[in-house]
Order: sequence, then structure tokens, then C-alpha cells
Amino acid sequence: MREVPLHIGFIMDGNGRWAKKRFMPRTAGHLAGLKALKKVILGCIDQGVRYATLYCFSTENWKRPADEVNYLMGLFSEKIMGELPFYNKNGIRLLTTGDISILPEDARRALQDAVRATEGNDVITVQLAINYGGQAEICQAVNRALSEGIREITPEVIRAHFDNPEVPPVEIIARSAGEKRLSNFLLFDSAYAEFAFYDKLWPDWDENDVCGIIDEFNTRVRKFGGLA
Ligand code: FPP
Repeated sequence: MREVPLHIGFIMDGNGRWAKKRFMPRTAGHLAGLKALKKVILGCIDQGVRYATLYCFSTENWKRPADEVNYLMGLFSEKIMGELPFYNKNGIRLLTTGDISILPEDARRALQDAVRATEGNDVITVQLAINYGGQAEICQAVNRALSEGIREITPEVIRAHFDNPEVPPVEIIARSAGEKRLSNFLLFDSAYAEFAFYDKLWPDWDENDVCGIIDEFNTRVRKFGGLA
């Protein structure tokens, strides 16, 4: 029987290259990437995937030129709440992971409002990783535990102190645009995740690419350190 992963992680790479190929500014690639993101979420819903995490902005992306960073912050502040009918029509619950406290006020508020406005939706939980880094996530969880007086750090303690501990570990991570690395994404939860890498640039992705990921997932034999 075809197994549908409970949780897929997406590294949405290649927006800049997509735009460059079309002699457009990199920012146009991010806007096209947002359109692809919506198609991919619909694909996840069609296939019965219950959780998706999308890498939108890493702790390292602040190094990019200011106009690109500002554009992405503008997408968070202007587009997130504007898509509310889309989330509610499709049962999409939004969560964020990463330290959004240092985002520009309007972006932070839009994200918090969207999380609140979609908390009753239950078809799929979409976790947006924003100002997210896997190393920072682990350090933050450990620091939270220490500040509560917990003296023994275990994997369970770390996970319980994540931003959204109720989100189960990712089962497969898919990356677009040819690079074969994790780039500080879901370091802790990827311990036994499968990985799938595709050459297609992120803005060209749609619902069918989700089917491809699930087909690939079904070719893998998962042993979690045990025997098949
Ligand atoms: C990586 O491509 C992509 C990003 C750093 C940003 C991804 C963000 C989005 C798709 C928009 C999300 C928006 C909302 C509102 C959720 P790249 O720029 O590294 O591409 P390149 O490798 O070709 O340069």
C-alpha cells in the first residue's frame, strides 16, 4: 500500500536562478516562489499529508542584500493575511517556527495574526520556518529547559521545548534547485528523515511534485536504526 508521509519538509531553493533566467530581479523569483508554495500546499492536501514545513527565511538569510531581505519581509507582512480566505477555504492551519520576535513589527504581527486566525483549521498544519536555523532551534530549546531548572538534557527534553512540539518529526525533506545539502534546516528532527533532491527550480513546482515526493518516499526502506 502507498504510504503518505505524515510530515514533509520543503527547502524552497532556486527562486533567484528562476528570475535570473528570465532577466527579472531576484525578488520576482520569490513572488513566483510564493505561488508555487500555494500549489504545493494544495498538493499536500490532495495527497493527505497532514504537516508541511517550508523553509522561508533562514537565520543566515540576513546576509543577503537589504532590498531582497526587505522584499521577503514585505511578503510576510503583506501576503500572509491577504491569503486568509485561501487558508480557511482549504483548512490550513499556519504555525511559525524560528525567532520572529526580531522581524519588522508589521511582518511579525501579520504572522501572529495569521496563526491566531487559522488555529481552528485542521486539514493540514503548515509550519513556516522564518528566521529559522536548526542549530539555533536546538540551542533555544536547551536554554528554555535550563531556565525551567531542568538539569538533564535528553532528546525528549529538547523536542518538548521546540516552538511547536506538537508537530511530529519530518519524514521526508525535499529540496528544489539541485543543491544537495540541509542548509541548517530541521537538524534535530531530520535524524531519521528521508531526503529527496530535485533539479527543478522552486517557482516551477506544483501539486504533481508532491506526488513525486510521495512516490520516492515509497521506494525507501525505513529502519530507524533497527532491521527491516
Ligand atoms: C531560496 O531561493 C528561497 C528563499 C531564501 C526564500 C523562499 C521564500 C518564499 C518562497 C516566499 C515565502 C513567502 C511567504 C509569504 C510564506 P534562492 O533565493 O536562494 O535562489 P537561488 O539559489 O537561485 O539564488
